[in-house]
Amino acid sequence: MLRVKLFAAVLFAAIGMAGCFGGGGGRYVIGESKAFEASLYRQNCAICHGPEGDGKTLDDGTVVPSLREGNFKAVNDGQIYNQIANGGNGMVGFRRQLSERELRLLVDLVRRDLRGQ
Ligand code: HEC
Repeated sequence: MLRVKLFAAVLFAAIGMAGCFGGGGGRYVIGESKAFEASLYRQNCAICHGPEGDGKTLDDGTVVPSLREGNFKAVNDGQIYNQIANGGNGMVGFRRQLSERELRLLVDLVRRDLRGQ
């Protein structure tokens, strides 16, 4: 039993390291970023999209999409901005809570840091 656990530990460590070294530069970690837009994300978006933007299912059954991968509905800056500002389909809009600059910083975070585009 101990051997199995040990094997599993080594395996996960190896997968973890592959994740760090592969993919050119690695994954942007919102939780470790000191950027202002990362803190905006943590305060406003993490509750639905998850701490790292991987998406999740809410208690009421709403399926919140990953902001990192999948078939995006909002494919360009204008559409991403529109979704964040106005919301829709289960998402609240942030036009009233956030400034124009903050909305634009979040568009950049989604496109550049999370999607790598
Ligand atoms: C109340 C939960 C909730 C909060 C809070 C929330 N979202 Fe969403 N978000 C959703 C849901 C649900 C969708 C899917 C909407 C749809 O399918 O049209 C979505 C969709 C999106 C999309 C479009 C994804 C695509 O497919 O292209 C973006 C971008 C996005 N959210 C960014 C944000 C950002 C940035 C914040 C923080 C400012 C945020 N969201 C806060 C629930 C939320």
